[in-house]
Amino acid sequence: MTVDSDSESPHEHVVVRRGTRSGLPIIVAVHSTALGQAIGGCRLANYPHWRDGLTDALRLSAAMSDKCALAGLPNGGGKTVVALPPGRKPDRITRRAVLHDVGDVIAGLAGAYATGPDVGTGPDDMVTIAERTAHAFCRPVDAGGSGDSSGHTAVGVLAALRALCAERFGSADLSARSFAVLGLGRVGSHVLRMLAGTGATLVASDLDDSRRALADAAGAAWVGPRDCLTADVDVLVPAALGGLLTGHSVPRLRCAAIAGPANNQLDTPATADLLHQRRILWAPDIVVSAGGIIHATAVELHGETSDQAAVRVRGIADTLTGVLRTARATGSTPAAAARLRAGQRIRDGQRIRDGHR
Ligand SMILES: NC(=O)c1ccc[n+]([C@@H]2O[C@H](COP(=O)([O-])OP(=O)(O)OC[C@H]3O[C@@H](n4cnc5c(N)ncnc54)[C@H](O)[C@@H]3O)[C@@H](O)[C@H]2O)c1
Repeated sequence: MTVDSDSESPHEHVVVRRGTRSGLPIIVAVHSTALGQAIGGCRLANYPHWRDGLTDALRLSAAMSDKCALAGLPNGGGKTVVALPPGRKPDRITRRAVLHDVGDVIAGLAGAYATGPDVGTGPDDMVTIAERTAHAFCRPVDAGGSGDSSGHTAVGVLAALRALCAERFGSADLSARSFAVLGLGRVGSHVLRMLAGTGATLVASDLDDSRRALADAAGAAWVGPRDCLTADVDVLVPAALGGLLTGHSVPRLRCAAIAGPANNQLDTPATADLLHQRRILWAPDIVVSAGGIIHATAVELHGETSDQAAVRVRGIADTLTGVLRTARATGSTPAAAARLRAGQRIRDGQRIRDGHR
């Protein structure tokens, strides 16, 4: 089945199947294999209707194609969504059944797509999926995988922050800058610690008050989430959930630039124009947050060493610099420049693939 989405190109393959064991809707969207095997996490989340899960899978898999293309990966974008009815949390037995159902659907794609952790799933779940298909990555290290990717994501964020500061303030030195880190979870806590190591001035926040100890240890001023979002700092680092940059929040921002790992930071694409009008330099999250997927795929899917993967993760700085310079030269937003660059790489990949047929 081929489905049109709001991305430039239609998806190559979309499977919607009721799991034979769990009875739950399993959705796997393969957006593009023009650059290689499609990759993208397995999301286990509640949706009002399974069609909302399908919409999410189409959107997220298209974004993964752009993310992989910008990261220079020999991969395309895909996504798995298991659409749970509102309020339902699977018990241990149902969870295992649903993960096996996911594994069977992926096995049926004969290597066109591989999955990893996403919202609602983690490295241990990849072990269960891998009982049905070889195409699951980010299993724990003791199970033969590359483990939790959040530290590598954070390394990529630091590389991006240096590139952003060079472009916005004329120097990649972070020690003279101030940062507001919003969200001190797996990635945000690493980022905060690394920023503290540079001597930068820090503000931090999390909905969860128990995270305050992390801020104290890093010498960061602890504020509420709303004050963190609108803090008077050089750079805002979104490291919690997406959708925080909106028509309502952007007019209140007091930072000069934004870069962080949170996925889907803009509520709609038009919010990139609002940031541009306010001269707030926004680093596209699909570039900034790619460290984890770069490391995991390099080590697990492409047989590289951890050191080789680390070089690629730090390459996020060059990618972001290229995107920001293109935006400056053309007067476009960084979001538009990133989209253009990703689309070009995917089309080039398509041409090479078609030429080899
Ligand atoms: N883990 C990775 O390797 C990775 C890779 C790419 C992108 N991301 C994205 O980065 C973001 C953070 O990921 P993570 O793995 O650290 O998640 P996490 O769940 O470990 O941490 C998120 C933190 O944000 C806090 N939070 C949630 N809503 C908040 C709010 N409104 N205000 C303040 N704090 C809030 C939570 O309490 C939690 O501590 C997510 O958007 C994720 O999709 C993560």
